[in-house]
Amino acid sequence: MRTLVITGGTDGIGRHLADHYLARGDRVVVVGRDPAKGAAFRAAAGERGTFLRADLDSIARNRAVLAELLASHPRIDALVLCARFYRSHRTLTTDGFEATFAHFYLSRFLFGHGLRDALERTADPVIVNVAGPGAPLAAARLDDLQLTRDYHGGTALGHNGKLNDLLGVAFAEEYRAGRTRYVLVHPGVTATAHTGAYDAPTRAMVTEMARTAKPVACAARPIIEVLDAPPREPLTALVEGRRLAVDGPDFDPAAARLLAARTRALLAGR
Ligand SMILES: NC(=O)c1ccc[n+]([C@@H]2O[C@H](COP(=O)([O-])OP(=O)(O)OC[C@H]3O[C@@H](n4cnc5c(N)ncnc54)[C@H](OP(=O)(O)O)[C@@H]3O)[C@@H](O)[C@H]2O)c1
Repeated sequence: MRTLVITGGTDGIGRHLADHYLARGDRVVVVGRDPAKGAAFRAAAGERGTFLRADLDSIARNRAVLAELLASHPRIDALVLCARFYRSHRTLTTDGFEATFAHFYLSRFLFGHGLRDALERTADPVIVNVAGPGAPLAAARLDDLQLTRDYHGGTALGHNGKLNDLLGVAFAEEYRAGRTRYVLVHPGVTATAHTGAYDAPTRAMVTEMARTAKPVACAARPIIEVLDAPPREPLTALVEGRRLAVDGPDFDPAAARLLAARTRALLAGR
């Protein structure tokens, strides 16, 4: 029996993956905010499913959940990062971080590094970061990580998606002697909850987009493939199941190191 931790596992692609692995006999811990979604998950999951309620915008809640996970699950086979919430308007968290940066990037940084020891104790460990690999390096604003200038919700997704690519590059480099593989996944446009606080034009666009979006089961298929048989390489990027090269300028190790250093400085003492 494997143990999977899925952030954003109460809805959309994350929930589909949680159901899939529970049906296969594994143990699944999902993290989300909404208690009603958590209760629905628990009712369907049975005793192998656990819901941890946490707002991953908050650094303290991230750290508390990580401590709880390490105490209850010293061995974790797979970490799947799916939590994401669109914001049309720039919002600050209680820590003073821009909210998309906080849960879509900082939380993923904390989870990957925080659970790494528990992952290394298992036979074939893997982290799957579901975001949007493939954008040019310029999509990341390394000089304005929290988008203080010209904020737009779509820009925030692209920017933080690129930060996640660099997170994968830095993680794979830092732990190259380890066994945990890092996989960046772009699922393609998928018919999910698309949770968010949308302005009217963006809401209309998302509704329109959902008409032609692929079913969740289709988006989940390549993710299940890598969870079942993690690639041999330390870092892999997949866009709708197709591999992207990760040695080009868009996955620049120097930029990844710079981002990792800035991230640690931002998190220091928190
Ligand atoms: N759907 C697409 O078209 C698409 C396209 C490209 C990439 N992706 C990526 O795929 C991943 C999954 O997306 P999805 O569309 O399946 O998501 P979704 O259906 O919108 O579900 C989002 C999940 O994240 C959780 N979440 C959001 N903010 C949170 C927070 N602050 N703290 C804790 N949990 C939080 C939600 O739980 P609560 O409701 O309880 O907050 C929910 O479980 C995301 O990383 C997304 O960037 C999706």
